[in-house]
Amino acid sequence: MVGLVAAICENDQINSYFAHGCMERTNFMVNYVFRMPYTEATMLEVLRKGSIVPLGLFHKSINEFEYKGFTIPNDIIFLSNTYAVHHDPEYWEKPYEFRPQRFITATGEFRKDERVIPFSVGKKSCPGEKLAMIQFFLFLTGLLQKFEFTLNPNEPVPCLDMKAGFVIPPPPHKLILKDRRN
Ligand code: HEM
Repeated sequence: MVGLVAAICENDQINSYFAHGCMERTNFMVNYVFRMPYTEATMLEVLRKGSIVPLGLFHKSINEFEYKGFTIPNDIIFLSNTYAVHHDPEYWEKPYEFRPQRFITATGEFRKDERVIPFSVGKKSCPGEKLAMIQFFLFLTGLLQKFEFTLNPNEPVPCLDMKAGFVIPPPPHKLILKDRRN
């Protein structure tokens, strides 16, 4: 969440979108997400750029099988490199930049992308995906509706580059929260 906010702080468009577009609503509901394309795009971009579970979980083959010309032997442990999928320079324009607009069409609608796979894919993908997305939307909109987030000008801009690990947490850093009602 802190990493998300840090990325959002650098993007004035998001702060002003919430300042001007969402103040009249008192409580966000889950189904509002379909009416908020820029918010949905921001969530997807956070999951792409953040890639918080970069390699998924360990899986083991129980039979030898062929995949795209490769023979995968029996009894092999393998990991899916979702971080690489999310940062493939041959697919993404400027993959290391935080750009929610990559998921917005020319007519302003949200555009899903099958290359964003933070919960992995297939039968063993994350069973918590729906719950996670609901919580993500409610926390994000609830916080951004009530507070304006900025980076602390007296602190260095936090580095959100990948650090190897099972999950990629954001580095510790300080933010300034201003109540939007004042
Ligand atoms: C943004 C939040 C989350 C992300 C990015 C995420 C991502 C993942 C990924 C990549 C896997 C591995 C899939 C694979 O084996 O290839 C996984 C597994 C799993 N996740 Fe999540 N997850 C999130 C939230 C949650 C939540 C909220 C729950 C439960 C309430 C949950 C429960 C699980 C469980 C139980 C597994 C293991 C499934 C199995 O191996 O059978 N996750 N998650």
